[in-house]
Amino acid sequence: MKTIPVKLKENPYSIFVGYNLVSKIPPQIKKLKLGNLGVVLTTPKILSLYKNRINKAFKSREYKIITVPDGEKAKSKEYLFKVISEIIKIDTWNKKVFLVCVGGGTIGDLGGFVASIYKRGIPCVQVPTTLLAQIDASIGGKTAIDLKEAKNILGTFHQPRAVFIDPLFLKTLGPKQFKEGMAEAIKYGIIKKKELFEFLTKHRKGIINQKKDLMLYLVSNCAQIKARIVEEDEKETKGIRTILNFGHTMAHALETAHQYKKLSHGEAVAIGMVFASQLSATLGKCTHNEAQKVKNLVKLYSLPTAATFDYATLYGAICYDKKFISGKARMVILRRIGKVEVVEGVPMIKKAVCKFGSSI
Ligand SMILES: NC(=O)c1ccc[n+]([C@@H]2O[C@H](COP(=O)([O-])OP(=O)(O)OC[C@H]3O[C@@H](n4cnc5c(N)ncnc54)[C@H](O)[C@@H]3O)[C@@H](O)[C@H]2O)c1
Ligand SMILES: [Zn+2]
Repeated sequence: MKTIPVKLKENPYSIFVGYNLVSKIPPQIKKLKLGNLGVVLTTPKILSLYKNRINKAFKSREYKIITVPDGEKAKSKEYLFKVISEIIKIDTWNKKVFLVCVGGGTIGDLGGFVASIYKRGIPCVQVPTTLLAQIDASIGGKTAIDLKEAKNILGTFHQPRAVFIDPLFLKTLGPKQFKEGMAEAIKYGIIKKKELFEFLTKHRKGIINQKKDLMLYLVSNCAQIKARIVEEDEKETKGIRTILNFGHTMAHALETAHQYKKLSHGEAVAIGMVFASQLSATLGKCTHNEAQKVKNLVKLYSLPTAATFDYATLYGAICYDKKFISGKARMVILRRIGKVEVVEGVPMIKKAVCKFGSSI
């Protein structure tokens, strides 16, 4: 089992990475002295896929398993209060409750949010089961639920007390869900680590087939990159965490323009990264060759590099993105593979969006 420390001043914790990790979670939790009643939050799908492993690890009087529906539906005020009601029912005077979130990013976000507000905060442990959750959502302490008006509109920062990443969970992901995470993995290579980018280029087949050593390298490197960025800018106040948004200005705009229907987040990020790289080359911030490398890698993982969109809708959505300041975009720009830069007031974006739109 590999341990990646997240060295935060007030909330340090460890990310544990390894195959067959689930049985090792309760003893680790004991060491951390998190409490005497663990509420395991998961979904019926995960429970049915991993019944034996989850039951074996958590079937004791010290744990209670509760489920919410799969997917984004669970990140709602209805399920927020349902989960809280369930916890209240079992939280008697001699109990010290903590939460164990076993699932994708939606479970981590909902569980983390519950843990941050229940009794003004209880400990929370993340056991991510999708690639996206393992390399992104479970690390960094962002929690949220959606309202019908907007996604992730209610949220907090609540760092987990530990994260357990077991790539064995990924074996049951569908190809679409796997690609969802690959878009973010490619992003980490682009923003911070050329070797990771090259590794992804070289080992496509092995990664798609989830060869053990390759998966361990992939998830631990991505998790480590996210951890280092979070260490430097825990609450996103210094602008350092902004680089995690590479490709996301366009992605959010595309998702809004497509009303979250046709494009998944990972697909939108893939297109957004190609756009940001091409714009960087057009602005002379990187060579066209570097931008082309991004496009090639996105293609290699069968992620889209372009989408049909109505230019006016997309440009409007970009302008409404929260990173857009007084008419000028704040964007993460590519300098070279492994290095990006945050640029305020990116010029020519209108022209670039237009050109991008007409080239497909
Ligand atoms: N907090 C953060 O920093 C952060 C960062 C990125 C994304 N997010 C959030 O994460 C969510 C997306 O996460 P996601 O992509 O993991 O989606 P998800 O949690 O909805 O999971 C996707 C689907 O995969 C299923 N699933 C989960 N694990 C599985 C497994 N091992 N095998 C088979 N099926 C499995 C789930 O039941 C679900 O149906 C969004 O709500 C997003 O806002 C949060
Ligand atoms: Zn993302």
